[in-house]
Amino acid sequence: MRDISYLTDNYDEKIAEINKFDAPLNFVFITDQHNRMNEFSVAENRVPGMTEFEYAVDAINSIQYILDRCPKISMVINGGDMGNDYNPDPQEIIKSHKEVMEALYNLSVPVHTCIGNHDNALGPCTDEGRDNRDYVILPERMHELCMKYNPTPDNYYYIDLEEQNFRFVFLDVSDGRYNQDKNGQYQGWMYEISNKQAAWFETEALNTDRKIIVFCHGPVSNKGIYGTENYPQGIKPYDDLINGPRVHYAMVNNKNVVCHIAGHVHYDNLLYDDGILTVTTQSSLAWAWCPACPERKCKAITETAFDVFSIKDNVVKITRFGAGEDRVGCLQRL
Ligand SMILES: [Fe+2]
Repeated sequence: MRDISYLTDNYDEKIAEINKFDAPLNFVFITDQHNRMNEFSVAENRVPGMTEFEYAVDAINSIQYILDRCPKISMVINGGDMGNDYNPDPQEIIKSHKEVMEALYNLSVPVHTCIGNHDNALGPCTDEGRDNRDYVILPERMHELCMKYNPTPDNYYYIDLEEQNFRFVFLDVSDGRYNQDKNGQYQGWMYEISNKQAAWFETEALNTDRKIIVFCHGPVSNKGIYGTENYPQGIKPYDDLINGPRVHYAMVNNKNVVCHIAGHVHYDNLLYDDGILTVTTQSSLAWAWCPACPERKCKAITETAFDVFSIKDNVVKITRFGAGEDRVGCLQRL
């Protein structure tokens, strides 16, 4: 294991704050590792001026330092976009995914994953005109890779936290149609919740008296959300999640949904969507895509960015490890 003291040497103060707050519900949210992408970009000279890169597993390994000192953190939630789907070698892509998942599963608490839009590896290879059959990570394989704690055969699920009276719902945005055209090709980029998943969300996932937090790789509604790229515009037109409006409608009309947490936009947003505390977390990938992002530096604390969420009554303290700031939100609907 590489030396990660350049990260963990900065953690003690934050850990003390988390323990002092003493919330009954605490979890880590880490997202958008895009593991090995910066390494690839440096090797291939894809980003002018980029000379350094991080290893996603260093930040993941550093989470154990926090877990060892914060016994009330009960799980890690991985927001998706794990690996480097830009690598032309499909074996390297899957290796980059596995590296992240193995490091996550080495942690001492359960890890729940929301699959991201990069994770099925269909986007870049299709853009490049390659035979995407060689690349596609089909839902069954994805399930083996990152659904260890999912009790269902699908790639979306929920868990109930009986003691804290919460339900956590984990959505899957790579849930489109995996049919092939006459040349055997799958579609390219996918950012979709299937009708089946949306119906499950409405009738099963939301069917509880517990308070619900909905986790999804990307926010189900882009209204009021800033991020992804093309500064200063932010949201790309193709950032609209298929079936997002349907899922969003169900969320705002179910008063038990108190919070929605996502990644994908590589930016820190905190807003109230019809009273639902909606939070996005900066990418753990060391990349400041615009001047409004916190600066990132490799082999320094700002190499990574992830949060510990601590929920006590209607207060949500969001403690940042790495680049960016601590935040606090309110569960208005409680
Ligand atoms: Fe994404």
